[in-house]
Amino acid sequence: MTDRVIAVINQKGGTGKTTLALNLAAGLARRAATAIADADPQRSISQWVAMGGNEDALPRVTQVGDSAAAAIFHLKKNHRYVVVDCPPAVQGAAIEEIMASADRVLIPVLPSPLDLWASVEMAALVNAAQKKNGALQAWLVLNQVETRNALSRVMQQAVAEFDVPLLQASIQRRAAYRSAAVEGVSVYALGSRGLQAVADIEAIIEEVLRQ
Ligand SMILES: Nc1ncnc2c1ncn2[C@@H]1O[C@H](COP(=O)(O)OP(=O)(O)OP(=O)(O)O)[C@@H](O)[C@H]1O
Ligand SMILES: [Mg+2]
Repeated sequence: MTDRVIAVINQKGGTGKTTLALNLAAGLARRAATAIADADPQRSISQWVAMGGNEDALPRVTQVGDSAAAAIFHLKKNHRYVVVDCPPAVQGAAIEEIMASADRVLIPVLPSPLDLWASVEMAALVNAAQKKNGALQAWLVLNQVETRNALSRVMQQAVAEFDVPLLQASIQRRAAYRSAAVEGVSVYALGSRGLQAVADIEAIIEEVLRQ
């Protein structure tokens, strides 16, 4: 089975890695057995899940450290999907090891050229990982998008210069993502408050699984 390990990576901080990883895992868990691997020493996703009540059946979190590949390999045995939340760092070994274990990489970026260019190093790392791991597919995912309008021309050019393609589905800026984090749940557990955010995440899942 391919597409089982989906890593959410960007060395730039605050671009939405944990928000995407948590909600992606919640959506995938509605399809099949899913695990979350927390590779960030800040342990944000672990704290998010630990905070929540029982109203949202979030996947279990396993904290992974130096031997990320072994931990991911272990999780793959019992889960159809493993979502890996990565730290805002490129620090060689850990990220390289995760990319070597991953089938899909999602790189959330804020929709400004400056933010995108701050992730250029990431694109180079992904390309290097793809040389070793031929099955690895990667996409940029726009996060905190303000409108459904077309991207600005500057942003389109910046995206075109990237060696990593842009996922068509994107994440809008929505209060629901912040509420979910505060309440320790995914947007799926927010009922009518979360419907539009759920639609964002479902579109991302469908597009990623279709490839
Ligand atoms: N689409 C969104 N709409 C509204 N708020 C968002 C959205 N995405 C992320 N946020 C908020 O932005 C902040 C940063 O998001 P998040 O923690 O997911 O980023 P991160 O890349 O994991 O950060 P770090 O690099 O520190 O791990 C959080 O407060 C989160 O709630
Ligand atoms: Mg994070």
